[in-house]
Amino acid sequence: MKKTKLLIILLIFVTGLNAQDGINYDENLMPAYTLPDPLVFPGGKKVKTVRQWETKRKPQIFRMFEEQMFGKIPEGLDIKEYRLLEESDVTPYPNGRRKQVALVLKKGEKELLIQLLLYLPKGVAKAPVFLGYNFKGNHSVTPDKAVIISSSWARDDAASGITGNRFSEKSRGTEASRWSIQRMLDAGYGVAVMYYGDVDPDRDDFSDGVHPFCYSGDQKKPLPGEWGAIAAWSWGLSQALNYLETEPAVDAGKVIVFGHSRLGKTALWAGVTDPRFALVISNNSGCGGAALSKRIFGETVKRINTSFPHWFCDNFKPYNDREQDLPFDQHELIALIAPRPVYIASALEDQWADPKGEYLGGYYASPVYHLYGKKGLESAEQPPVGVPVMNQIGYHIRPGKHDVTDFDWEQYIRFADMHLQD
Ligand code: GCU
Repeated sequence: MKKTKLLIILLIFVTGLNAQDGINYDENLMPAYTLPDPLVFPGGKKVKTVRQWETKRKPQIFRMFEEQMFGKIPEGLDIKEYRLLEESDVTPYPNGRRKQVALVLKKGEKELLIQLLLYLPKGVAKAPVFLGYNFKGNHSVTPDKAVIISSSWARDDAASGITGNRFSEKSRGTEASRWSIQRMLDAGYGVAVMYYGDVDPDRDDFSDGVHPFCYSGDQKKPLPGEWGAIAAWSWGLSQALNYLETEPAVDAGKVIVFGHSRLGKTALWAGVTDPRFALVISNNSGCGGAALSKRIFGETVKRINTSFPHWFCDNFKPYNDREQDLPFDQHELIALIAPRPVYIASALEDQWADPKGEYLGGYYASPVYHLYGKKGLESAEQPPVGVPVMNQIGYHIRPGKHDVTDFDWEQYIRFADMHLQD
């Protein structure tokens, strides 16, 4: 009882603070808004066929997101070298074997090492794989003592064993509850993870990670239409997929790109930019992910661009406080993944991410799925808490906070089974 009271006081305090900050959590206080129709050309003509969509309208929408939000990924920046770091049949998972590989990006003498940790189910000739980033190093996703600790920069967090911007043994396993590895292996899936900070440390600084590898002369940072960190992390996922294509025990046609929160935004952009991803999962991706920006509910464009100025390209900044002027909204981001399956998950207590806006992102993407003869999210109403909907677009809202849980993974595996099993 005492705990509940404390929580309520805390909630009032936090909500009050946010209200002062202009953050809205009230459906009645949202502005009236009109969403752009993905199936209507700027001149008013309707898209009637898959061909019109794929050859004309889809590229138009893609370019808007690319030029005005995520920024262009540099061309030709491909990793060509893979260094085997370690492999073993002995892991904490009786039916899992482990492989650790560095994806090596080179420029002259300079090297960037992106470490990939792969668990594969024993006895499966070619396994489908869940691929995603972690927030706290590969060693944080498992208690497995053999997993190499990343030496990349990390935000200090003493409770997770990160001090002096470096990981330590103490952070081993601290994020294990977010990765149901045993469950994936039991279901016949592999899992590949990377630390997102290996690709680009999550701070407003373009002198580290992949950035120094792609500018020359006087250019030290991306131009206003060039990639922000989210697009850089998406690039890293495509590099990992290139590697997985060389791995005989992986079914590279069945790689599922997954991400939570800022990494859910990343997974969506990776799904859009790289059609090789067979299925896309956005867990609590919120603003800049699945949630509609024009609702102005929870995190706003201004807030995200202010707290995290390095995530999106500079061309996105003029939309601060001007969501109504955005020529696109996030339902169109999801539409760009069509007809591939995409799953959007929300959490009830994660109002910052606007669960209803995340649902509507999928709902308003659905007409593009219909064009392919596929079902998306068919009801304008969110399903009840804890009741997943699974068509070509999947969705659930579960009880609890901003996180990844076993419940989420149960649904993702079910959804993947439904779409990827022969
Ligand atoms: C912050 C940010 C969100 C983001 C989240 C996360 O809350 O405002 O946009 O999704 O961090 O990545 O955990």
